[in-house]
Amino acid sequence: MALLEIEHLKKYFPSPRGMVHAVDDVSFSIQKGETMGLVGESGCGKSTLGRTIIHLLDSTDGTIRFEGQDVTHPDKKGLAKLRENMQIIFQDPYSSLNPRLTLRDTVMEPLKLSGRFTKAELEEETTRLMELVGIEKRFHMSYPHELDGGRRQRVGIARAIALNPKFVVCDEPVSALDVSIQAQILNLLMDLQEEYGLTYLFVTHDLSVVRHISKNISVMYLGQMVETGPTNELFNHPLHPYTKVLLSAIPTVDIHNKKSRILVKGEINSPINPKPGCRFALRCPYAEKKCHEPVQLTEVSKGHFCSCCRVHEIHS
Ligand SMILES: Nc1ncnc2c1ncn2[C@@H]1O[C@H](COP(=O)(O)OP(=O)(O)OP(=O)(O)O)[C@@H](O)[C@H]1O
Ligand SMILES: [Mg+2]
Repeated sequence: MALLEIEHLKKYFPSPRGMVHAVDDVSFSIQKGETMGLVGESGCGKSTLGRTIIHLLDSTDGTIRFEGQDVTHPDKKGLAKLRENMQIIFQDPYSSLNPRLTLRDTVMEPLKLSGRFTKAELEEETTRLMELVGIEKRFHMSYPHELDGGRRQRVGIARAIALNPKFVVCDEPVSALDVSIQAQILNLLMDLQEEYGLTYLFVTHDLSVVRHISKNISVMYLGQMVETGPTNELFNHPLHPYTKVLLSAIPTVDIHNKKSRILVKGEINSPINPKPGCRFALRCPYAEKKCHEPVQLTEVSKGHFCSCCRVHEIHS
């Protein structure tokens, strides 16, 4: 069953130079208990999409369905319930943690605010959460600045899962961490997913990070989804020229399998009042005149969608 279904979602921001089309007609769904990887270069709208889905931002247009219910425009009570069910883990937990609270108080805070626990339960539940995310006892009374990035992110995770959410947006949760710590945090997120049946939207600009943890991957380019499909399919048979560029940029350790990095040149379409047609066309080596006409995400093989109007010609 799809936990989350997004249809034609848009989020525009007004700016002095015109409307920023940060998320522009994006549709996809995520099955319960699964991870959807969301990749694309800086500024393509990944965070905006994640934040709009969980109602940290109001959507401009489109529909958000959660557990089959239309939750696009919730009332106050509905929003409070959604806030419990949908959470976010940020890239930099430091900026989202109160510097004056100990770790223990930080983790306890969302539990306290929920008003659901007695004092004894609060203590017990806080201890359970701290253990669950692997914060050693000796750090419980420390302050955020006394911690390394990995432990700070564990605190961010504890807060996010404190009230048993069903859906969590992980917005580049390991991008700021050392590579050795990244794996630990990814493992923690996967363990929690298994134990609690969590559903993740995992945002990253780094395709190699999501390869092993995502069932499906979606690729965004300038506010639009250009390709979405099962992870292996996307890695083995990338369809959209932009996805190929992203994949060619992943460094390989295998010296016999040296990929040639595809370089793209050309003018970059702007997210402010963008030109019609494929937004990658201005940089695409395969672009033709027809690429500047409106294009839609269409299914090319089972569950594998692409928005390139030349996809069949390129792959024949
Ligand atoms: N509050 C805002 N007001 C105006 N424009 C915004 C706002 N938030 C984001 N944008 C613009 O929307 C577009 C998408 O930004 P967003 O932060 O979602 O990208 P991103 O893919 O998360 O990038 P990154 O990888 O750098 O985190 C950008 O052009 C950005 O400048
Ligand atoms: Mg972002």
